[in-house]
Amino acid sequence: MAQAVEAVTAEVGRLVPRVLGRYSPVTVDHGEGIYVWDTNGDRFTDFTSGIGVVNTGHCHPRVVAAIQEQAAKIIHAQANIFLHEPMLRAASKLTATLPPSLDQVFWTNSGAEAIEGALKLAKVATGRPGVIAFRGGFHGRTHGAMSVTSSRVKVRGHYEPLLSSVYFSPFPYYLRSPYKGGLEDADRYYLDELNQVFDHLVMPDDVAAMLIETIVGEGGYLVPSRRWLQGVREICDRHGILLILDEVQSGMGRTGKMWGFEHFDVTPDIMTVAKGVASGMPVSAVVASHEIMDRWQPGSHGGTYGGNAVGTAAAAATLDVMRDERLPENAARMGAILSDGLRQIQADHPVIGEVRGLGLMVATEFVHPDGSPNPAAVQKVIDFCLGQNLLLLTCGTYDQAIRIIPPLVVNEDQIREFLAVYRRAVAAV
Ligand SMILES: Cc1ncc(COP(=O)(O)O)c(C=O)c1O
Repeated sequence: MAQAVEAVTAEVGRLVPRVLGRYSPVTVDHGEGIYVWDTNGDRFTDFTSGIGVVNTGHCHPRVVAAIQEQAAKIIHAQANIFLHEPMLRAASKLTATLPPSLDQVFWTNSGAEAIEGALKLAKVATGRPGVIAFRGGFHGRTHGAMSVTSSRVKVRGHYEPLLSSVYFSPFPYYLRSPYKGGLEDADRYYLDELNQVFDHLVMPDDVAAMLIETIVGEGGYLVPSRRWLQGVREICDRHGILLILDEVQSGMGRTGKMWGFEHFDVTPDIMTVAKGVASGMPVSAVVASHEIMDRWQPGSHGGTYGGNAVGTAAAAATLDVMRDERLPENAARMGAILSDGLRQIQADHPVIGEVRGLGLMVATEFVHPDGSPNPAAVQKVIDFCLGQNLLLLTCGTYDQAIRIIPPLVVNEDQIREFLAVYRRAVAAV
C-alpha cells in the first residue's frame, strides 16, 4: 500500500483509528460513472473503482433503482428465516454466467468472509485439513483469510498464531522470476516448487484445497500463464485436491471476460466472488457444485446478513447491467487501448519496467535502472495524478506498481485523457 495520506482534519484524527490507512485526502460527497465529487464540489476521476468494486460505475441508475425499490419492500429478510426473491434471482443470474458445474451460491458479506466459507467448505467436502496457497496472494483480513495471504507481511505480521496446515508455493512473477530460461522453463520450475511441497511438507491426501487468486491483485497484478494454471489444475486432480479460485478482484468483467479463469480454460471446484458483484453493496459469495455444497450439513455454516435482500437486489441489477451494457466486452476493448497507450509511455520512459494485466485489470511496475523495484517513482506518479484530480492505487509487496482500474463503463475519450495525464506524470519522475 502506498504511504497512507495522513488524516486531513482534526475530526478525522479524533474519530477514525489510524489503522484505516488512507490513499487520498478526498472527502467524497457523491459519484457518477467514473467520477466522484468532493464536499467542495471538485470533480475527481476515479481510476481505483473503490478497489475494484464499482465496475458498473458509481451509482449506476439501474442499481440505485433496484436498491431503492427493495429497501422500500424489505431490507432484512434473514436467510435462515425467510426465502426471498432477490437472493434467488441474483443466484440464478450469477450461475448463468458460470460453467454448469458451478451451480450453487452461498451468499456472504465480504471477500474475506467468502474465503472463510470456501476454506471451510473444502475441508468439510474432502475431510482433509490442509490448504496450499500461493506467495503474493491476498485473500482478506479475517484470521483464516489472513493465514492464506502473503501479499505483504504487514497484513499478517504480529497476528500469530494463524491457521495451521497452510503451505505456500510461489505464484509466477515472470518479471522477477528467479529461474533461468524462458517462460516455459519458469512455469516448469514454478510447478516443480508446488510438487516439492508434497516432498517436503505435507502429504497430498492431507490437502483439502489449493487456493489461488486467478490473477494476483494486491500482490502486484500478476498474470500467470495458461500452462501454469492448467498445470496446477492437473496436480489438484491427480491428488483429489479441490481448486478454489479467488475471483474477488479478477471477476465481474474486470479482465475483459466475465471471470478471470475464462482466459485460462480452467474451471475451479469452488470460487469466491465479491467486490464488483453488487456495485458496492457488501455482498459476496461462495460458489460450487451442488455435489460439493451437499457436504455442508444444515447449520454448519451461516451468518446473520448473508443474502441480504437489498444487497442481492443490487447484485441482480449489477449482473443485468453487465450483460445489457456488455461491460466485459467494453473492458476488453478499453483495456487494449489502455495497455497499448501505457506501452507507448513505457517505450519513452524506462522507469516503467513492465505493463501487465488483462482487460481493465492493468498495472505498470516501476523500476530503478538496475531493474529493482522503485516505490519512490510510484509515489511521485500517484501524487502527480492526485494533483490532477486523478485517483490511482498502488499494488505489489513493495508498492512497486500502480494499478489502473477504472469502472468498466469508461469510454475511449476518458482512457485517452487518462493516458495524457499519466504520460505527464511519468515524465515528471
Ligand atoms: C482477491 C481478493 N480476495 C479477497 C479480498 C478480501 O475482500 P474484502 O476486503 O471484501 O474482505 C480481496 C480484497 O481486496 C481481494 O482482492
